[in-house]
This record gives sequence, C-alpha cells and structure tokens, in this order.
Amino acid sequence: EFEGDVYTSNPNPYLAHASSSSSLASAPSSSKMRINMDASLPPAPTSGPFAGLIPGQTTAKQAMALEDGHANPFTGRAFTKRYRDILAKRRELPVTAQRDEFLAMIQRSQMVVLEGETGSGKTTQIPQYLLWDLLPHLNGKMIACTQPRRVAAMSVAKRVAEEMDVEIGAEVGYSIRFEDCTSNKTVLKYMTDGMLLREAMMDHDLSRYAAIIIDEAHDRTVQTDILMGLLKDLCAKRRPDLKLIVMSATLDAEKFQKYFNDAPLLSVPGRTFPVEVFYTPKPEPDYLEAAIKTTMLIHATQPPGDILVFLTGEDEIEDACRRLRGEADRLRSRAAHDAPKPGPLLAVPLYSSLPPHQQQRIFDAAPEGGRKVVVSTNIAETSLTIDGIVYVVDPGFSKQKVYNPRIRVESLLVSPISQAAARQRAGRAGRTRPGKCFRLYTEESFDKDLLPQTYPEMLRTNLGNIVLQLLNLGVQDLVHFDFMDPPAPETLMRALELLNFLGAITDDGELTRTGQLMAEFPVDPEFSKMLIEAPHYKCSMEMLTIVAMLNVPNVFLRPNDRKKEADAAKAEFAHKDGDHLALLNVYHAYLHNQRDAKWCSANYLNPRTLKSAENVRTQLSRVMTRVGLPLVSGDASKKAYYDQIRKCMTSGFFMQVARAERGGKYTTVMDNQTVFLHPSTCLLTNAEWVMYNEFVMTSNHYIRTVTAIEPGWLLDVAPSYYDPKAVPEGPARDDLARIAKTRAVAKAIEDRKNKKARTDEED
Ligand code: CDP
Ligand code: MG
Repeated sequence: EFEGDVYTSNPNPYLAHASSSSSLASAPSSSKMRINMDASLPPAPTSGPFAGLIPGQTTAKQAMALEDGHANPFTGRAFTKRYRDILAKRRELPVTAQRDEFLAMIQRSQMVVLEGETGSGKTTQIPQYLLWDLLPHLNGKMIACTQPRRVAAMSVAKRVAEEMDVEIGAEVGYSIRFEDCTSNKTVLKYMTDGMLLREAMMDHDLSRYAAIIIDEAHDRTVQTDILMGLLKDLCAKRRPDLKLIVMSATLDAEKFQKYFNDAPLLSVPGRTFPVEVFYTPKPEPDYLEAAIKTTMLIHATQPPGDILVFLTGEDEIEDACRRLRGEADRLRSRAAHDAPKPGPLLAVPLYSSLPPHQQQRIFDAAPEGGRKVVVSTNIAETSLTIDGIVYVVDPGFSKQKVYNPRIRVESLLVSPISQAAARQRAGRAGRTRPGKCFRLYTEESFDKDLLPQTYPEMLRTNLGNIVLQLLNLGVQDLVHFDFMDPPAPETLMRALELLNFLGAITDDGELTRTGQLMAEFPVDPEFSKMLIEAPHYKCSMEMLTIVAMLNVPNVFLRPNDRKKEADAAKAEFAHKDGDHLALLNVYHAYLHNQRDAKWCSANYLNPRTLKSAENVRTQLSRVMTRVGLPLVSGDASKKAYYDQIRKCMTSGFFMQVARAERGGKYTTVMDNQTVFLHPSTCLLTNAEWVMYNEFVMTSNHYIRTVTAIEPGWLLDVAPSYYDPKAVPEGPARDDLARIAKTRAVAKAIEDRKNKKARTDEED
C-alpha cells in the first residue's frame, strides 16, 4: 500500500544497547505435550443443535451430518438451495478427503503445518473444520485466519459466508486495515496479518481466539514473519490451549515445521493436471507487448479454455485489458466471411486496489463461444483461485519491494520473479485439465537469472512501523527475537534510528509516550507523528485529511487519451505551495460537491479513492479522539493557516527534505542524492526547500508529492537531527548554520534585554 518511503541517515546509538536479557527465550517443544484443554474448551453441549459433540474431540462424520441437515446450527435458519449446491462442490475438494486426518492431528498437537496445492481448499475449508471441532462460539471465542493480502481476506470471507449460508459480517466476517466487517456474532474472522498484529498490541495473549490459522505463510511478508514469531512464543508460554495452524502453498513446509518445534505436517495432495511449459527462443525486449501478442495468439489458435496473464500493476493491467478488448474486436470484425470467427474475449483485471464488486468479475463465466482472460498481479499466484484457467502467460516480472538501508529508500520495483513463483504461476494452468504455460523469457534465463526462492520481505523492507509495533507488544530485545529469517542489523538499526528521531523511543530504545500514541495509528510512523503534532499546530482536521489522502491510491485520473484535459482539471486544485495542499483542496471540493461521482469524473478524480479516503479519515479521527488528541482547525483566511499545516507535516517528514540546486535539480539534504521533482507536481513556486512523500527510483530519481517548506522549521521540529554539525557539507548546511546563527544572535539580544529589564526593575 505504501509505494516507498525515504529516510536520511545518521549513525545509530541503540543497537548496542538493546538489552541482552531476552524477553523471548526459545520455546520448549510444546507441540509434543499433551495438554489438558478441558478448561479452555467449551463444555460439551447437552442440548441444542450441537448436542452430542465434544469440543476438541469431534469427527468429520459428526460435522458432515450437521452440514447435511435441514437447518443451519449456527443460525437456526433452514439451509438454502445455494448452500447445498456449494456444499456438493466443497465435498469434492482435495482437503475433504483428509478432514479426519486433519482433526486427529490438531486434536493431538498444538501446532500443525499444512501444505497443499493452490485450490485444494485450505483457505475456505480448514477454518470451517476447526469451527465444527472447537465450537468456539459456545464459550465466546473465535477463530482467526490471516491473509497477507486485503483482497484475499475480503474475497475469501465472502465466499465462506456463502458456504456457511450466513450473512457476511455476521458469523463470518473480515477485518482489514480501515475496514472492520465483523459483529458480536462473528466466530470466524478472516483478517490481514497486520490486523491481527494490531489486536495483539491491545491483547498480548490474543485471548479472544481459540485458534489462529496463518495462511499463505510461504508469502513471508514481514507481518506474517512477525506473527509467526509472536505466536510461537505465545503458544509455548502463555496460551497452551491456543491452536496454531500454518498453511502454505508450496515447497517450504520443512522450514516451517522446523521453526515450529517439529510440528506435524499434513500434505494435501493437489488434484492437478500436467502443464506444458513453453519458453521464448530469445529474450523479449518489451514484456507487455509480448504478453498481449501471446494472449491474442492463444485466443486465435488454441482450443477453448480461459487465460491468466500475470502483469505487475494497476495501470499496466488496465491498459492491457483495454488493448486486449480492442484487438479481439478487431480480430472478429476482420475475420473473412468463410473463415471461422474467433469467439468474443472477456478481459477482466485483478489487482488489490480494485473495488470488491469488480474483483468478483474474475469468477464470471467466459462469454458463450468465447473465452475469459484474467489479467492479474501476483495475487492470482496463490491467494485467489480462479477455476477454468487452461493457459498462463508469464512475463516473469512482479512488483517487489526493495529497500536500501544505506540511503533509506524503500520502493516498489518491477523485478524478475523467482523460480518458485514461476512454477506456481505455471501450476495455475493445470487446475481443471491439462494446460499450457507460456513463459516470455528463455529457458536459459529461467535457470540462470531467476533466484530459486523470493527473499522474505523482512530482508528487503524498511522496518520502522514493525519495530514500533514490536516495542509496543513488549518485545524489547529485537536482536534476539526469534525471526525465521532475521533482518539485516543495518535495517533494524535504521528503523530504531527513525523512531528515535521521531521521538517514539528514547536513546535507550524505550518506547516514549509519543511512541505509544504513534503505535495506536495504523499508518507509518511519520504519519502518526503528524497526527500527534496536529493539535499543537491547530490543524488536526487538515492533517487527518492529508494523511488519509496519502494512504489511499492516487486520486488523480490521467487516461492515456485525455492527458491534457486531466492535467487541466488537476491544475484547478493546485496550491502554489505544493501537492499536499492540493490534496486538501481536492478533498474539500469533493465534500463541497456532495461526493458526486459525476463531478469526480468530470474533474478526473477517482470517486472510489475519495470514498476510501473519507473512510480512512474517519478511522483515523476515531483513534485521535480515543487517545485524547483534540480535533482542532485553524482559520483558513489567515496567512498562517497554510504555514501551520506545512510545519506540522515537516514534524513528521523532516527526514525527507531536499534543497534546490541549479537547473531544476534538487539534492536530498542528508544523503546527497540528486533528484528531480516528479512531473506530476503542482508546486508553483521555485521552492528552495521542499519536503517529499515518496522517492521514485527509475532511470532518474524523482521525488513525488512535494511541498515547499522553510529551512528554519527544520531547526524547530528536529533540532538535534538538523544540528548543522550533523548535516553534510554543502549549501543546505550553510543555510541551516546561518539561520541557527541568526537565531542565536537574536536570542542573545533578547536575553540581554530581559536581563536588563529585570535589573532595571530591581534598581
Ligand atoms: O486455499 P486454497 O488455495 O487451497 O483453496 P481455496 O481458496 O480454499 O479454494 C478452494 C476452491 O473454492 C476453489 O478451487 C474454488 O473452486 C472455490 N472458491 C470459489 O469458488 N470462490 C472463491 N471466492 C473462493 C474459492
Ligand atoms: Mg488459499
């Protein structure tokens, strides 16, 4: 969700201090312990629909009898026809055959690792198996199933609500950042791993849960990795009754088993068909062109079957869909009268920021006599299963997070995928019958250039937010935390340093009051700092809007064929001091125009993004109210109004500041990177000093979302960081030193005056 943050550098004093008294000693081998669970499980019901089941000791047969019954034991309502149709399909899934084996395993051992082919039924079925066995609703507990991706959490929860014949948000719900679709009825909750981490902050023991399922563990996101470390510890020390299931799609099961104290492994054999893999004979200069060409070739020449194309991001995917539709229409209209006409082509996009009802379109049937093409990011690699795919087009790239701790730049870069990911992609073609996978790279390149496995995100990300969360979870000793793959010390150090500069932790690495407040907000530390400082600058309302707008995708639409019009529309919202203030203008105009979608399109604004910005804003303002930060606003007619806003933003992003050089270039202040203002900026002044939100690495380095600031503010908001002695030599340092000196002189004069006034009084 965050497209990149930039931090400037300074040496770090804390890592050496991180105390050696480990707060998370290695866990005893609890998986083999037999635990008396009677106290934590609900008593066996003697009446009601579940009568006869002994929680924690049920069989598949018992549960299936109830699933086959007339009324839904969870709601008391008669089962619908739709329910029965879906149930029949569920019974054919590969996991069904192993329901008893799974139950026996989890009844015997606290932790279980489960591995299975994508589409075998792990995500949708396993949580339900547990629900029928533990009956957590009988003693007010829940089952959580975590997902690395928001899209998957939402989409899978909806599917499972249908499977259980309940309303989404009632017995089955989901919880993702900025959206909670659960109620006091909820017993099964799909959630992002990040949300479960947040809950762990308020309730270290996760006492509301009877079982936790970590899904898509092979994805190895930072949040998943942290969660695994915490849960391993929690299971061993404080929650011997908590059941933990770790599910993964691919090979690495042994590594998970080992990490979880040799937990037993359940392998669900996939029901897959052979997939024939084709490579291009020579490297393709342009993978997007090659992907479109290949897709059209499949469409024109191959037997029926849907196509899945992997691309890297929203714009690329929407562009590809448009072009595929156009080409297919052309192909049909150009077909000779006597030749067979190629069928219609339904091109549907899939990426995480797509609104849910549009995501559902990937499950639509192909048009009569034609075929469906799903153009997706790597969400379709493992998280979502699309039935009916026979052809896969794999250009070999995905957008991946890259972090350079030295210059503190985190960015999403289009990078080659790993061999494991390529195999996973190919596997998508063999779900319903034998399939074909077209790799748009050479076989030699697969062998030599692709890494066997993708590096875990932990090793390539900025950890600022995560470290703050860990500290708030009471994990002081980060160096000895039981990471599956420990992050580079430099990365940890950078994170601690950032938090120290923001005032979130002391020099000894202890969380401060500011740090505790910051951890309450589900946004990056720089943003939470802005919100915490906002009342002081009398701009809470404005800061909420700006932070919300920066935490949703880009609101400005810029269709390829309407660039000029779009730019003109955008210029109407411009603010001479920069992009953040323009975002504020956009939001105000949106409210002023009654959130009218027509108004949005006429102004080249994305109404969906604005709607989610409003939602994010509401959530953030609730947090502010909850922690007692006043919601105040300044007088927009005063000149100082915008200064206060800009100054407040500087208090969060003072580490992302650049100073103008000659020729439109800028230099980042702390690490001397030459950068350009991103062409999308609306900054109208020739600002000498600017703060920026994003560092974009392409052939040139750009800074995006930029606002003019005064260098003097840096001395106010971060005096030790901007102590001129700590700033690298150059014009920036000279400016700061001059301002510091002027201020010192002014202060000396002031002091003397005051002193004189006092002596005069005494005389
Ligand atoms: O987690 P895993 O990849 O093992 O499979 P799953 O997500 O539980 O999906 C099992 C099956 O449920 C899929 O093959 C689909 O047939 C079906 N399903 C569906 O029809 N619609 C969804 N939104 C999710 C799953
Ligand atoms: Mg799954």
